Amino acid sequence: MLRRRIRTIALLFCVITFTMFLFSYSLWDPSHFFFKQALHPKRPCSCRHCLTELDDDPWFADHLNRSIHPLMTRENSVLSEETYKWWQSLQSVKQRANFSEVVEELFQVIPDEVLYMDASPMRCRTCAVVGNSGNLIGSDYGDLIDSSKFVFRMNHAPTRGFEMDVGTRTTHHVMYPESAIDLDNDTRLVLIPYKTLDIQWLISALTTGTIKQTYQSVPARIKANRDKVVIYNPTFFKYVYDNWLEGHGRYPSTGFLSLLLALHICDEVSVFGFGADQSGSWHHYWEDNHMKHTGVHDGDYEHNLTSLLVENHKIKMFRGT
Ligand code: C5P
Repeated sequence: MLRRRIRTIALLFCVITFTMFLFSYSLWDPSHFFFKQALHPKRPCSCRHCLTELDDDPWFADHLNRSIHPLMTRENSVLSEETYKWWQSLQSVKQRANFSEVVEELFQVIPDEVLYMDASPMRCRTCAVVGNSGNLIGSDYGDLIDSSKFVFRMNHAPTRGFEMDVGTRTTHHVMYPESAIDLDNDTRLVLIPYKTLDIQWLISALTTGTIKQTYQSVPARIKANRDKVVIYNPTFFKYVYDNWLEGHGRYPSTGFLSLLLALHICDEVSVFGFGADQSGSWHHYWEDNHMKHTGVHDGDYEHNLTSLLVENHKIKMFRGT
């Protein structure tokens, strides 16, 4: 009798200890999927919040189209007539090359792979999209940005000298020929092409170095690991403009395009360095120019959409100083 009682108590003790272990493990690492998946077997990812959970949010589900892949492959590079016409109208150049021939040449220089389409209940891909706003100065966001699995930066964005506020890691650097900078071997170059010449420039910049001019001078060569170069899909570009911006501005900003890329390939997205600083200036964190936000983008519309994404708990926004 006594033995049986001892056995029962021991068993109970083991069960309680094991349960407590799982519970504290899950609290200690909230992204750990064990508990959450057990409680909600249909969750699409194992992060604390999955932005891919669409059921609760018709507005988001209405705008998001998962069937369009953000990055170009040989297969998805065939553009509809409407897309090609729109895309070609973005930036005019004198000589137009044959788009499909250029794409063929491109995939002899960079890999033709389908990337990041591996969403699963086991995956927790956290992403930081880092814009270039001066509101990063004094923000102390460096460690937080670096703690994300993917860190997207764009255009000239330096990190050296700004580590405390912007971090040190860059997994993806989004750019176009006129904003191109050299990268290290581990960083993915994400080229946003606004014209066929941009793809020709990329091929040249990674090989012969013959193209030095688009509508302005551009670097003849670029340091980047060509096995890690990817191209923003023009069809996705137009989808961002149509579905999300609903035609506002001439075309989306690099920041907004990067945010939409992240929305499609990440499970959790945090946004840094977007928007004006406290004094209302739209300037870069590394410059003292305090220029006003101008150009071909509808900054206000993009800002409002970004705020809606925050309100709907799809992204987290870190507003800086
Ligand atoms: O100025 P630049 O285009 O290089 O900045 C990259 C992106 O960062 C912009 O497209 C914009 O989305 C964002 N940005 C911002 N506020 C600033 C500067 C940049 O939101 N003051």
